Amino acid sequence: MKGRILVTGGTGYIGSHTTVELQSAGYEVIIIDNLSNSNVEVLDGIERISGVRPEFIKGDCTDMDCLKSIFEKYPDIKGIINFAASKAVGESVDKPIMYYRNNLNTLYNLLELMPVYGVKGLVFSSSCTVYGEPDENPVTENSPIKKATSPYGNTKQIAEEVIADFIASGVPVKSTLLRYFNPVGAHPSAEIGELPNGVPNNLVPFLTQAAIGIRKELSVFGNDYDTPDGSCIRDFINVVDLAKAHVCALDRMLENPDCESLEIYNLGTGKGVSVLELINAFEKVNGVKVPYKIVGRRTGDIVKVWGDPSKANRILGWKAEISVEETMRTAWNWQLKLRERGVM
Ligand code: WQD
Repeated sequence: MKGRILVTGGTGYIGSHTTVELQSAGYEVIIIDNLSNSNVEVLDGIERISGVRPEFIKGDCTDMDCLKSIFEKYPDIKGIINFAASKAVGESVDKPIMYYRNNLNTLYNLLELMPVYGVKGLVFSSSCTVYGEPDENPVTENSPIKKATSPYGNTKQIAEEVIADFIASGVPVKSTLLRYFNPVGAHPSAEIGELPNGVPNNLVPFLTQAAIGIRKELSVFGNDYDTPDGSCIRDFINVVDLAKAHVCALDRMLENPDCESLEIYNLGTGKGVSVLELINAFEKVNGVKVPYKIVGRRTGDIVKVWGDPSKANRILGWKAEISVEETMRTAWNWQLKLRERGVM
């Protein structure tokens, strides 16, 4: 075993896929999750893929006593990957205090406990949201940080600053900030995938639910933008590729003395794909029509953002490899599996 890793939010979309890759890389995973936006059956899916059921604690990372009990029960936790956060942009506008309290108190607790229990490294789940509407694409890690356009985005910016200040205080801890672009798709086994509670905010789960008939049709929020086909452009990165990047970052932080005390990486494919191009890719690879209509723009949407992942390619030795088409196939297979299981 390469050691114990605490994965907060580990039954969530990216957390569950990362748990599988951590196990495959030889880490022992302990998950804490309050199940506010995921369900405990995800553990079954993880076990069906890896053959190993991760230790699971139903708990909230804003509860310091709960976290302390985990570090007491599981000594020698070497690293933490922090996914636990509320993440719906629109909801954060309606409930800013809930977002600041949940996302930041979680972080404060983890940081405070790390030196106490000898935890060496923290991988933080950040977002390309910190770049706002970039002046130019692709964005690099040195692209300007723009004023957040939502409390959700602001919690990511504040978290990055808090971590930087914590590291600068000289604690024996390292941290790696991973700025995700748009995670999409599902594990090729279709045993785990994206399963948002209620009506999906994000594009791909809504798209697959429209394709299977759960939703009447997908609303495409605007086709009058200054882009080739008028729809917004994003960097859609396969969730398994993204999960593998976390293992690379953790390995580097825990094993490579060249790793700085604070490192930042963009995790994207480096390729911009429009909303309409994604729909076309989905239809082509799956042979399924997506019922959609063009509607008005969604407030707060970035028009175009895609990343330059060359720093992660070079230093982490990681590269996104799964094509958008293959990713759309996994998203559809996951939706079909949910139907087969009577989940939706
Ligand atoms: C993508 C594109 C929409 C839904 C946000 C956060 C980011 C990350 C992912 C958490 C946009 C269009 C969407 C729909 C549509 N957060 N769209 N119809 O807004 O790029 O990123 O979620 O992990 O930090 O900022 O993702 O999937 O909501 O939207 O046309 O029903 O799809 O307008 O252009 P977004 P998204």
